[in-house]
Amino acid sequence: MNITVIGCGHIGLVAAGAFAQLGHFVVGVDDDPDRVASLQAGRVPIYEPGLDHLIRKGMASGRIRFTREASEGVTHGEVIFICVGTPARATGEANLVFVERVAELIARYAPAGYRLVVEKSTVPVQTGERIALTLARNAAPGAELDVASNPEFLREGTAIEDFLKPERIVVGVSTLRARETLRKLYEPLLADTGCPFIVTDIRTAELIKHACNAFLATKISFMNSIAQICERTGADVEAIAFAMGADSRIGAGYLRAGAGYGGACLPKDVDAFARLAREVGFEFNLLEEVARVNAAQRASIVEKVRAELWNLEGKQIAILGLAFKPETDDIRNAPSLEVIRALVAAGARVRVYDPTVTSDAASGELPGLRPCLDVYEALSGSHCAVVLTEWEEFRSLDLTYAREIMAYPIVVDGRNVFSPKDMFRAGFTYIPVGRPAVRPVGTAFENPAEVGADA
Ligand SMILES: NC(=O)c1ccc[n+]([C@@H]2O[C@H](COP(=O)([O-])OP(=O)(O)OC[C@H]3O[C@@H](n4cnc5c(N)ncnc54)[C@H](O)[C@@H]3O)[C@@H](O)[C@H]2O)c1
Repeated sequence: MNITVIGCGHIGLVAAGAFAQLGHFVVGVDDDPDRVASLQAGRVPIYEPGLDHLIRKGMASGRIRFTREASEGVTHGEVIFICVGTPARATGEANLVFVERVAELIARYAPAGYRLVVEKSTVPVQTGERIALTLARNAAPGAELDVASNPEFLREGTAIEDFLKPERIVVGVSTLRARETLRKLYEPLLADTGCPFIVTDIRTAELIKHACNAFLATKISFMNSIAQICERTGADVEAIAFAMGADSRIGAGYLRAGAGYGGACLPKDVDAFARLAREVGFEFNLLEEVARVNAAQRASIVEKVRAELWNLEGKQIAILGLAFKPETDDIRNAPSLEVIRALVAAGARVRVYDPTVTSDAASGELPGLRPCLDVYEALSGSHCAVVLTEWEEFRSLDLTYAREIMAYPIVVDGRNVFSPKDMFRAGFTYIPVGRPAVRPVGTAFENPAEVGADA
C-alpha cells in the first residue's frame, strides 16, 4: 500500500521504517528543512536502536523517501498518518495547532478519491471530529477524506521491536472502509504476531491512549510514594516492587521507583488528560496527584544532595545521565533538566555525562551546558554523583577508580542502578531511592548494621 507519514520525529520515523519493512511504500513528510535534508542523505537525526538501519534499508529498496512537500505526500498516500507533536500548552492542555495545520494541508492537496487520514499523534478525545471538520471545510469537491485513530504505544529505546511486535493494535474508525483499510495495512504484522486487532469508535481509541499513559504514570507515582515510606521506615522498595510485580493482577512493568517519569509523553499526556477531564465536567483528582508526586520526586533528589553536601555553593556535582530513559537521546521533560536547574540555582557547578545526548541537544535545553566525553571526566573532582538515567554503562563503572577521582565519594542514585553492597565495599556514601542509605564505617552518620539485599 502507499502510505504517507506526516511528521518525521520519533513516531513518524519508526512508523515509516516499520511500514516499509512490512512491504508498503512510504513517503515521509516533514516541514523542518534540516531534518528532511539529513534524512534524504540517509542520516537519521535521532538516536533509537536499529532505526538508522531500518530507514536506510527502506530507502535503498525504494520503499521510503522523504520530502518537505506536503502535496507530494498527500498525493502519494492512500493512508496518511498524522505524526506531528502535540506538546503541552502552559495551561497543561494539548496544543493541537500542528495537527490542525496538517489537516488543512491534507485537505488542500487531496486529489479526488478516497484517502484515510489517521491520527497517530496522541490527542485528546474528540480530536478526530475536529480533524474531520477541518478536512470537510477545506477539501476540494471529489476528495473523499475519511478519518481514523490509531494510537501508538511504542516506547523510545525499544521502539522498533514495540512497533513490529505489538501487544495489540487499536484502531478507532467510523466506516467499514476505514476498518478494512487499516486491517489490510497491518495484515502482515497481524499474521506474524497474532496480536489482537482492537476496533472501536474514534473517541474510544483516543481515550484508550490517554488512559494507558495515565495508568502507567500512576503506577510510577504509586511506587515513588511507596519509596517515600520506605525511606522513612528502612524498608526496601526494590524488594516490594519485585514482590508486587510477581502478582499477575498488578504486572511488573512501571513499578520502578526513582527520579520520576519524564519524556515527551507521560508528563504532557497526564496533564492534558486531567485538563480534558475538567473541561468535560469531571475533576480527575487522582491524576493531579500523580503529577504532583512526580514533581516532588524530582525535588527529593535535589534535597538528598543538599542533605549530604550541606551548602551547595562551590560544590561540583556529576550528573550521570541526561536522557529521560536509557537507549534514547531524548531529553524532553527529563528529570535531569529540573535537577540540574535546581542545583545550579543553589550555586553548585555541574558536570554532566550521557552516552547519547549531544552538546547541541543539551545546550538547547540548558544554555552553555557541555556534556563531558566520558563518565570519569564528569566524576573527576566532583563532591557528589547523581544518577538520573539507568544506562547499562553506569552499572559497570570502575567503582574503585571513581572513588579515587571524586572529591567526596558520595552517590545519590536516582535510578537504583547500583548494588548497595558493592557501594559499601567500594567505600561510598550511597543514597538510593526507597532503600536504606549506605555509609562507610566511621562516618558521622548512623550506619545500618546490615547492608540489605542485593540490587
Ligand atoms: N515519542 C514517543 O515515544 C511517543 C509514543 C507514543 C505517541 N507519541 C505521540 O506521537 C506524537 C509525535 O511525537 P514525537 O515524539 O514523534 O514528536 P517529535 O517532536 O519527535 O516529531 C514531530 C515532527 O513533526 C514535524 N512537524 C510539525 N509540524 C509539521 C507540519 N506541519 N508538517 C510536517 N511536519 C511537521 C516536526 O518537524 C517533527 O519532526 C505526539 O503526539 C506524541 O505524544 C509519542
